[in-house]
Amino acid sequence: MKTVTVNGIELAYRDEGTGEALLLIHAFPLSGAMWERQIEGLAPQYRVIAPDLRGFGASGLGTSAVSMDQYADDLAQLLDQLELEQVALGGLSMGGYVAFAFLRRHRERVRLLILADTRATADTAEGQQGREQNARLVEQQGPGAIADQMLPKLLSSGAAKSLQAEVRRLIEANDRAGIAAALRAMAARPDSTALLPTISVPTLVLVGAEDALMPPSDSQAMHQAIPNSQLVELASAGHLSNLEAPTAFNDAVDLFLSPRAALGAGGGGGGVW
Ligand code: MLT
Repeated sequence: MKTVTVNGIELAYRDEGTGEALLLIHAFPLSGAMWERQIEGLAPQYRVIAPDLRGFGASGLGTSAVSMDQYADDLAQLLDQLELEQVALGGLSMGGYVAFAFLRRHRERVRLLILADTRATADTAEGQQGREQNARLVEQQGPGAIADQMLPKLLSSGAAKSLQAEVRRLIEANDRAGIAAALRAMAARPDSTALLPTISVPTLVLVGAEDALMPPSDSQAMHQAIPNSQLVELASAGHLSNLEAPTAFNDAVDLFLSPRAALGAGGGGGGVW
């Protein structure tokens, strides 16, 4: 684990392998540690960079207001410090919301895009109220209370007990203040639907076929709206598809990246695999 100072906080990140740089943004309420299987499977061919967003894992929370834009700006500064002008950018769920903010603010740095188990729409008013309730819950009772509530929705019903325990550990390793800040930041995020048709880089949309939080219909809608996109549904995987179907997830990413990494430039058509 490495750290770097960005926008007044210590940002922790994993940085493994060499080749095409792939920056992976984690889901809520996890950390960069959720990408361990992707580092294992993809770092032999690619440089995989997996930060802990501010307030998660080993990264500081800082004192400034947390937002999807702030997370995105932290990542842009990380890339500055790593002297990486462009990357393949991948985000899962909340990581996808951050990827949308990154595109709005630092579009020129995105060479390829991967959107996994995420959606472009903003929260409904009811959803925002639920976020605030959960923010208070975690502030009062700690991350275990959020783990209790979210675990059944993060993994499919067939997920192994050991994987459930692993995800719980990842959630409980986070600080309550970072989780609460992320909940309020997600509630305040803008709708990104209008951004989708403007995305010009090749995009891979991935979704677990059994994702109960962001159902495949959300991914299908994103795929329809993003001109140069491909859609892959991963069988027998729930919301955290990278954890439940790591080999299929890694294969899809590799298949998407490899011809483009070899060419060193974007390309490829859309379609459903
Ligand atoms: C996530 O997995 O990042 C969250 O479920 C996203 C959300 O709550 O909107």
